[in-house]
Amino acid sequence: MAGSGTAHLRHDQDLVLQVDHLVVEYPSPRGTVHAVSDVSFDLANRETIGIVGESGCGKSTTGKAILRVPPPTSGHVLLDGVDLSSLGTEELRQSRSHLQMIFQDAISSLNPRHRIRDLVGEPLEIAWLESFRRAWWIRAWERYVPWMLRVWRQPWIRKVAVPALTVFFAGLILWVLSTAVGGNNSDGVPDGGAGARIADVLMIAAIIVLIPVVAVLVVTGIVWLVLSLGMPVAGIARSIRVRRARPAFLADRDAKVHAALTDVGIDADAAMDRRPHEFSGGQAQRICIARALVLDPKVIICDEPVSALDVSVQAQVLNLLEDLKAKYGISLVFIAHDLAVVKNIADHVVVMYLGKICEVAPPDELFVRPLHPYTEILMSSIPVTDPNVDPRHAISISGELPSPIDPPSGCRFRTRCPRAAERCVEEEPVLRDFGGGSFVACHFPIERPVTAVSVPVATTS
Ligand SMILES: Nc1ncnc2c1ncn2[C@@H]1O[C@H](COP(=O)(O)OP(=O)(O)O)[C@@H](O)[C@H]1O
Ligand code: SF4
Ligand SMILES: [Mg+2]
Repeated sequence: MAGSGTAHLRHDQDLVLQVDHLVVEYPSPRGTVHAVSDVSFDLANRETIGIVGESGCGKSTTGKAILRVPPPTSGHVLLDGVDLSSLGTEELRQSRSHLQMIFQDAISSLNPRHRIRDLVGEPLEIAWLESFRRAWWIRAWERYVPWMLRVWRQPWIRKVAVPALTVFFAGLILWVLSTAVGGNNSDGVPDGGAGARIADVLMIAAIIVLIPVVAVLVVTGIVWLVLSLGMPVAGIARSIRVRRARPAFLADRDAKVHAALTDVGIDADAAMDRRPHEFSGGQAQRICIARALVLDPKVIICDEPVSALDVSVQAQVLNLLEDLKAKYGISLVFIAHDLAVVKNIADHVVVMYLGKICEVAPPDELFVRPLHPYTEILMSSIPVTDPNVDPRHAISISGELPSPIDPPSGCRFRTRCPRAAERCVEEEPVLRDFGGGSFVACHFPIERPVTAVSVPVATTS
């Protein structure tokens, strides 16, 4: 599969989240990792979008890039129409309370040393502390440090420093060797002769070339040191205000934590002072959901929240998310590698392969009429309980997921696609409308008639 395109984006709905041409690339020693390449989708209020695809296709990276941890390489994320990349540090911190994330491994995402009261109340505490304006000195430090690190990572610094240091140390070695093997001059002082003269020239030239690099590092480092040393003094007034307001905050926090834990089906009175290891996986995931809810977010990104749970507990957590969605009026981005999990919870499903979207469709359309060869293989891999269905007839996918460092040209799925043709090598497919709410990025999609069924609102069973 795999293509780009925006034909599936809606413009006439009450959209809470818009992901626009998102690209995430990681530098690595072997080359650039193209984790997410030009992904766009949108999410309406109180809607759930499911993102599925095999491991390594970029689902988690997409979720994290929406939260800007780390910020995407390019592209935009709009929350309620506001582009998060256009926000300053403080505005971004405030908008983060509207976007929360829960993870697959609930136990690991809860600090084992903290009590549930503090863990669930942590987002409230962070938001409360943010409400106290920092001194300008501290704000200057916060702006300066990322700027300084950007300067230090400028390619010219490495391009100048690495060869210059290499030349300097080559000169130093040459000087040591020449001096060691050379004789003494007329004054009895060791003299390396011509070798030592060449070494001197090399080392002096390297030092001259290194001067601008050292100057940049030293000057920016001194500014950082001065700002850092002033931070404790600059923060005194704010610390006093925070200390005075803390008792009232803690009482309010505990009430909110109690309510959130109760909403997720945890006995709050018994749980508040316990620690994460005293809970089962399902309970820990409920606690994580409570932690995501306390700030009353608009969108929760659920990164494989049920993948590590027993099947019976999976259904409970899915039902809980559905109930909370209605109660809190939230929208969900639900990431899963298993299509069967998203079937009952998502209003729309985005199928990803190697960093790109290959199909977008309502779940009922997708399950009845998968049009993309990759979606069909994913569907075929879902275990069925019907004894008349021979699992050996399931369509299996051949080969490994190609490296995201060097993705295939044209359609990224072509190296494993049973329908691949010459055109797939040369031309990248873009998402096209195939009716019934299905959008597919494939030059040769599976031909199936549009189903007559209308798409019902998904409910968990
Ligand atoms: N910090 C990182 N540095 C380099 N590569 C990364 C990093 N995070 C993820 N990747 C790579 O990006 C690709 C997508 O990863 P991920 O989003 O975690 O996939 P998924 O959640 O679909 O399993 C993978 O090939 C992964 O190895
Ligand atoms: S038929 Fe071609 S374009 Fe379609 S998924 Fe296969 S390789 Fe990609
Ligand atoms: Mg993942």
